[in-house]
Amino acid sequence: MTLTNKRILLVVGGGIAAYKALDLVRRLRERGATVRPVMTAGAKAFVTPLSLSSLAGAEVHEDLFSLTDEAEMGHIELSRAADLVVVAPATANLLAKMAAGLADDLASTLLLATDKRTLVAPAMNLRMWLHPATQRNVATLRADGVLFCGPDDGAMACGEFGPGRMSEPLAIVAAIEAALAADTTIPLPGITGQPRPLAGRRVVVTSGPTHEPIDPVRFIANRSSGKQGHAIASAAAQAGAEVILVSGPVTIPDPPGVSLRRVETARDMLAAVDAALPADIFIAAAAVADWRVDAVAPEKLKKNGGGAPVMTFAENPDILASVAARNHDRPALVVGFAAETEKLLDHARAKLARKRCDLIVLNDVGACTGTFGGEDNEVTILTAEETIPWPRLSKVEIATRLIALLADRLGPAS
Ligand code: C5P
Repeated sequence: MTLTNKRILLVVGGGIAAYKALDLVRRLRERGATVRPVMTAGAKAFVTPLSLSSLAGAEVHEDLFSLTDEAEMGHIELSRAADLVVVAPATANLLAKMAAGLADDLASTLLLATDKRTLVAPAMNLRMWLHPATQRNVATLRADGVLFCGPDDGAMACGEFGPGRMSEPLAIVAAIEAALAADTTIPLPGITGQPRPLAGRRVVVTSGPTHEPIDPVRFIANRSSGKQGHAIASAAAQAGAEVILVSGPVTIPDPPGVSLRRVETARDMLAAVDAALPADIFIAAAAVADWRVDAVAPEKLKKNGGGAPVMTFAENPDILASVAARNHDRPALVVGFAAETEKLLDHARAKLARKRCDLIVLNDVGACTGTFGGEDNEVTILTAEETIPWPRLSKVEIATRLIALLADRLGPAS
């Protein structure tokens, strides 16, 4: 269970998406988390405290001035007895209160008093989301270190279509897992925080697949989900690094605290990586297409009775090898991935030498391993001197360990 013993303080705001918070509670508990629910007055107009407390297996807190609640656990303690604070749905009003630092009910008071990181899943009408006031509040909250999941684009309860739909519960769970992969305590200015071993460092990560066009509507792709690369970017950010994540097309949430560059093709990815360098660490976790279609058809290819089209391919640039071969500004650590289905160690060692990287993360992506798109991974770390097998771990845990190992090799920034 990926969230065993993790304590989530869940603030449910007053929006129609509150019904999805019920499913979110279920999903979190399935993964071993304990959920302490808090409702705003508005939330109770959409779902009942009884539904929420039944699913959470815990009492719902709703009143700032409840003597019983305060006697059992004061609101300050409640705000801190959690590993992560999650606001779902986060309404425009709640975001505005958080950005302004208002504390006029239990939910907003907890959000101001907590010493833990907060992840919000906004949900509102698209005009409310796009309103400059909301966008100002979002920018303020991001700068304060608040993590965002969504909102998604889509059909809304009000009949309109656009951005503002709350992310689906499973996407919020993934964002929670990513956020919890590292320390979530927020140090107060002037008070020493947790160690941030990559503070002052710049890390560039590639992630996801590339799409290589055949014609305007078709492309060649692969099964990479981006979960491992995104988890690595997130772990590096949590370790204090400035992170640029260059991602191919993926459907998973943007990791918190990183600068994202979205690309489609291998050549786009190389250009984005070149623009993001120099860096202290480069991690190539993307599954880059080795070949692209030589002559992309300008119009959609048609079945015209002349048989199947014949395509020729051109080799794509090797991003990892080109970064490792840089002279004056080569990153101190260049890390590649080797996804192999046979002769794993031989192929990976050959890749380490051929691409001149410092470290290879080898994984078995054979048909039965479930690595592509799955939550877990079993990897072996290869350097010129060592071969270190790691046990089967979640991709988030692998990311945390890999970042700790790289930070250790790099030492503190001068
Ligand atoms: O050669 P192969 O594709 O197996 O190498 C895998 C490693 O090389 C991964 O780290 C991948 O991100 C990187 N790579 C790259 N550019 C390519 C092909 C692979 O950066 N064109």
